[in-house]
Amino acid sequence: MDAYLAVIAKREVREYSDRPVPEDMLTKILQAGRATGSAKNAQPWRFIVLRDPERRRTLAGFMRGRRNLEGCAAAIAIVLMNDQLRFDAGRLAQNMMVAAWALGVGSCPNSIHPDHHDDGRALLGVPANASIATVITLGYPAPGQPRPRPKADPDEVLARIDRLRLEAIVSDERFKA
Ligand SMILES: Cc1cc2nc3c(=O)[nH]c(=O)nc-3n(C[C@H](O)[C@H](O)[C@H](O)COP(=O)(O)O)c2cc1C
Repeated sequence: MDAYLAVIAKREVREYSDRPVPEDMLTKILQAGRATGSAKNAQPWRFIVLRDPERRRTLAGFMRGRRNLEGCAAAIAIVLMNDQLRFDAGRLAQNMMVAAWALGVGSCPNSIHPDHHDDGRALLGVPANASIATVITLGYPAPGQPRPRPKADPDEVLARIDRLRLEAIVSDERFKA
């Protein structure tokens, strides 16, 4: 899929089908994460691949919402080794999700509930000096969910998305409220 189309058309997938995500796809998604740039090339992250449904179910109980993680085919927990570097974690997560989309795989970021961060850390064996920035769910979209369409027209995608208009967010030379 064209990179521009993948970036603008990537939508969050709320429900997945039962189809598993093949290992070679998972590897490509992880490579997209690995390739991400970061401040001073610090690469302040680790990736935990969650293939075991039972572990995902337990982790789901610690999230802000449980259904997306319970219903996915696999997930990747993004561990941030330095909590100051959240911008880098955002770049990483979006790169993985856009790469997945371009490969035909749906995804969605999920946050751990602040009250359960220690529970999530304990379950995944994450050290106290690191944090779980997000848990990316992966899978093929269930019927009715957004899905990657390699032949979609970018102008049609942009005309339909639920986003602020450019006029509302872009200004020349100086900030405009
Ligand atoms: C179950 C669920 C959990 C989500 N959790 C988070 C989250 O913790 N952090 C975040 O940045 N986005 C999260 N999102 C994604 C945002 O809601 C989403 O990017 C935004 O609404 C735009 O969605 P769209 O691209 O499908 O229009 C979550 C989405 C869903 C469906």
